[in-house]
Amino acid sequence: MIAASASSRADDLVNAAQPERTIAEETVVQEKGRLSARRRSFARLATHPDPAADALLRAQFDLYRSHDLPPALWLDLFEAMAKRGSAEFKAQLAEREERLAKSPDPLRRFEECLEGGDGEQGRAVFEKKPEAGCVRCHSMDGKGGQVGPDLAWLRHNTERAHILESILLPNATIATGFNSVALKLKNGETVAGVVRGESAVDITLASFTDGKRSTVKLAKVVERTPLPSPMTPAFGQVLSKRAIRDLVQFIAEGD
Ligand code: HEC
Repeated sequence: MIAASASSRADDLVNAAQPERTIAEETVVQEKGRLSARRRSFARLATHPDPAADALLRAQFDLYRSHDLPPALWLDLFEAMAKRGSAEFKAQLAEREERLAKSPDPLRRFEECLEGGDGEQGRAVFEKKPEAGCVRCHSMDGKGGQVGPDLAWLRHNTERAHILESILLPNATIATGFNSVALKLKNGETVAGVVRGESAVDITLASFTDGKRSTVKLAKVVERTPLPSPMTPAFGQVLSKRAIRDLVQFIAEGD
């Protein structure tokens, strides 16, 4: 009895280590499967023990080069190639990065982040990932911070390119009604925040840290200096491309 259960456990281990599919089967998935099935196939190919996985990925990269691979699969393909780590794949990926980095459009380097993300993962990044901190400043459907705009209105309502640009280049366009300023006051103090309201007599700022509102009499203001967006312009460096793609999906379509 004991021996039998030990050996069946060993069988389980062996089975778990075996690829779920042969390369011939993965090829059929890539040729006929839906995007979601192809995405899972790329994840398996990344660590597939059969060296023929390289040839299948090479064929998919050729499709990318001839503009025949759907953009929603680009990141999955590039990640699988990077994970396999052959000198050939590394060189191809580096060549692509270099070429896109030379583009006058700084967003070109992130074009694989526009389509194909996972909205549920995107919500997790938005709400929980400390390097992102989105929820400290933004709410989604009323839940979250009040420094920046509630982002729910963007859902089904805006170009993904705008969402990507807002994350990576926050100062390229400032959301209407969310300009930031520093105000020098007569008493020598300086207050700064996002302008959330202004009348003929006073101005209301939301604090950059917690969104708390404060109102200042305009008569006390001696100098007014526009400030850049409080969003860091470094999300392109601190977040992975996968995290960025998931965020774009979450903001564009929800989870
Ligand atoms: C320190 C506060 C802060 C943090 C953290 C922050 N944002 Fe923002 N965000 C703002 C403010 C303020 C604006 C409006 C000014 C502007 O357009 O940059 C804004 C604008 C945006 C916009 C454009 C909205 C529109 O209506 O066009 C998007 C999209 C966005 N943020 C997404 C994010 C995501 C995703 C994260 C997390 C990775 C994040 N932000 C983190 C403060 C923040």
